[in-house]
Amino acid sequence: MRIYCEKDYDAMSRRAASVIAGEVIHNPACLLGLATGSTPEGAYKYLVDWYKQGLISFKDVLSVNLDEYVGLAPSHDQSYRYFMQSNLFDHVDIDPANTRVPDGLTRDAAAFCADYDAYIRGCGYVDLQLLGIGRNGHIGFNEPGDHFVRETHVVDLTESTIDANARFFASRNDVPKQAISMGMGAIMGAKRILLCASGEDKADAICRSVSGPITPGCPGSILQLHPNVVLVADEAALSKLTASGFKV
Ligand code: F6R
Repeated sequence: MRIYCEKDYDAMSRRAASVIAGEVIHNPACLLGLATGSTPEGAYKYLVDWYKQGLISFKDVLSVNLDEYVGLAPSHDQSYRYFMQSNLFDHVDIDPANTRVPDGLTRDAAAFCADYDAYIRGCGYVDLQLLGIGRNGHIGFNEPGDHFVRETHVVDLTESTIDANARFFASRNDVPKQAISMGMGAIMGAKRILLCASGEDKADAICRSVSGPITPGCPGSILQLHPNVVLVADEAALSKLTASGFKV
C-alpha cells in the first residue's frame, strides 16, 4: 500500500484528484469507480477545475458508483445520483449514458444488483476505485458484520452510519435505513484502489484497516489483501496509525 500523508483536507483532496486525473489521462476510456460523501467533494472540485482549464477530459470515461440509498429518487437532493450530478457530472464532459449509480427505486433489487455486477465484470472490472471510509470501517456501504459480501446487495445501514449521515438530512428519521452497495467482489476486483480519509474521526478506522487484523468486523481491512492500493489521507486521519509506530 502506498500512503500519502497530506497536511489537511485541501491537500488530501488535491492529491486524490491528481491520482484520478492521472488515471484519466493515462487511460481516457477507463472505468472509474466513484464515491460520494464529504471526503471526495474537494477532489471533485479540483477535477472540475482542471477540466475547465482544459487539462483533463472525461469524454470517453465510464463510471460506476459504489452505492445509493434505497427509496431515494435521483432528483432527491440527498440521493447519491444527485450528489454525483451536482458535484461532478454536470460540470464536466462525461457522457451521461456512461455514468451508473445504483437505482434506489428499483422494484427488483436482486435483478438490479446482478445486472450491476455483470456490467462491471463485462467492462473487465474497475480501473480505479475511489473509496471513502466510515467511522466504523465500512467501505461502500459494506457494514461491519461476520462475513464479507461479494455481490452488489441491499444492506441495512448500521445505527452508527445513520448517525453519521444524519447531518445531511432534516432529521435522523429522514435518513434511509437501507442502501444498495457494491460488494467486495467488485471493489477488490478493481485494478487500483484509491482510499481517501480526512479528519481525526477516521483515525481509528484507518488504523484498523491498514494495520489491524483482516476481518469483516472492519470491512476496510480487506484492502490489505489488494495488491494496488493508494491511501491518501491527512495527518489527522493518519494520527492513530503513526502513533502506533507504523511508518507512512
Ligand atoms: C459513499 C460511501 C461511503 C463513504 C463513507 C464516508 O459513497 O461509499 O462509504 O465513503 O461513509 O463518508 P464521508 O466521506 O461523508 O465521511
